[in-house]
Amino acid sequence: MATHEIRITKMVLPVYVYGMSVLRKTAREIDKDYEGLTQLIEDMYETMEASEGVGLAAPQIGKSIRLFLIDATRMEDVDDEPDLKGFKRVFINPYITEEWDDKWSFSEGCLSIPNIREDVSRHSRVRIEYYDENWEFHEEEYDGVKARIIQHEYDHLDGRLFVDLINPLRKKLIGPKLRAISKGNADADYKIIYPKK
Ligand code: NI
Repeated sequence: MATHEIRITKMVLPVYVYGMSVLRKTAREIDKDYEGLTQLIEDMYETMEASEGVGLAAPQIGKSIRLFLIDATRMEDVDDEPDLKGFKRVFINPYITEEWDDKWSFSEGCLSIPNIREDVSRHSRVRIEYYDENWEFHEEEYDGVKARIIQHEYDHLDGRLFVDLINPLRKKLIGPKLRAISKGNADADYKIIYPKK
C-alpha cells in the first residue's frame, strides 16, 4: 500500500509594483473558508524571505484581501532592534482601532516600490484587532518600530502607499523613479509584476 505524504510546496510569488491597480484597491475581508489560505500564507512568507522584506500585504502579490504578514526577525540583527525579537505573525482581517502619541519620522521602504526610501511621519502607538492563522482573535497595542511596520502593511489594505504620506516636494522629486518602476524599470533582485503598456 502506498502512503501519500501531504506536503506543502512553498512558492516565491512575484511582487506587484507601483502602478498596478490592485495596490490602490480597498481589500476585502476573508472568512475561514477562504480557499488555499494556508498555502497562501506559506507562499507569502517564502516571498518575503526571498525579497528580504519585513512585511508583505496580500495586495502586493495581487490579492485584494485583508491579510498581511510580518517577519521582523531579520531586522533585529540588521538595525539593532532587540524589541523586534521573534516578531513574526499573520494578521487576518485587521483593524487599527486607535493611533495615538507623538508623531515621529522613520525611513520606510516597500517591496512594491523597489530602491526608494523616504521619511514618513506616523503616530508612535497603535491598537489593532485581528485574527491569526488559527483564527484566534487578538487585540493588542504596539509602539515604536513594530507599530510602524503594522501601520505600513495595514495601509496596503486600504490602497495607501508610503509615498502618499511623504512631503509633496520629495514626492515630486521621486516622480521619475516611480514612473520608471511602473514601466518595469526597477532594479529589484526579486521577481516583479508591473502594468502592461
Ligand atoms: Ni509596503
